[in-house]
Amino acid sequence: MLLHLHQLTKSYGHHTVLDGITADLDFPHVLALLGPSGGGKSTLLRLIGGLETPEQGSLRVDGQQVPQDEKQLRFYRSQIGTVFQSWNLFPHMDAVSNVMLPLTAVHGLSPDEARARAEELLDRLHLNGHAHKRPAELSGGQRQRVAIARAVAIRPKLLLFDEPTSALDPEMTAEVLEVIADLKAEGRTFILVTHAMNFARTVADEVAFLAAGTIIEHDSAEKFFARPQSETARRFLDRVLKY
Ligand SMILES: Nc1ncnc2c1ncn2[C@@H]1O[C@H](COP(=O)(O)OP(=O)(O)OP(=O)(O)O)[C@@H](O)[C@H]1O
Ligand SMILES: [Mg+2]
Repeated sequence: MLLHLHQLTKSYGHHTVLDGITADLDFPHVLALLGPSGGGKSTLLRLIGGLETPEQGSLRVDGQQVPQDEKQLRFYRSQIGTVFQSWNLFPHMDAVSNVMLPLTAVHGLSPDEARARAEELLDRLHLNGHAHKRPAELSGGQRQRVAIARAVAIRPKLLLFDEPTSALDPEMTAEVLEVIADLKAEGRTFILVTHAMNFARTVADEVAFLAAGTIIEHDSAEKFFARPQSETARRFLDRVLKY
């Protein structure tokens, strides 16, 4: 997967959040976006997902220019699976209906096809027995796995995870991270924003280190964790790996 960013700029009011980022990020399957809070990771992920558009600059995902107009963006978004920190499941629908909805509403599957695919995925994510529960009847880890099932069900060309475990306790975190590691083993391609450094180190092929609105460095995960090049990244890693 090649992610090409060219002078990518995003501001909110007078606050420049992404400051003209130019980079080619090339990774076989998994890119981790790491860096201090407020550095712009979620903003960059939203631009990659076509959920927001930049003021200036452009980005290409695997050779495809991320469009700017709403109609084309709707199509672009339908090819990307996203999972965010707080699950965006519909509270009035059970797990299987949540997974089915984009399949029938956006991807044109029949209800039978959608149900078969949703049930198969819920089984694979160890949610058999929970398919008919609504989000309020599930644990946080189970909800997040339903959200992952929904993102994967559309067979996206790219998955985006923004701190998928930050609202979870350690055991639920482990069950969600195991599922994400399985997705890599299945050969899926994704970009992961996480503060779980050891997990990033295990699962990522490539790391981009983002701070103060710019990509300070990017390298293979192995090299980044062994020898970060910038003082900023060195200090960041020293601090977060200490506890
Ligand atoms: N919708 C918005 N309106 C105004 N400012 C925003 C908005 N979204 C983000 N920001 C600001 O942009 C900056 C970068 O935010 P972003 O959420 O991308 O950082 P982050 O790297 O994901 O941080 P964290 O690790 O805490 O999630 C922050 O200063 C934030 O306050
Ligand atoms: Mg964020």
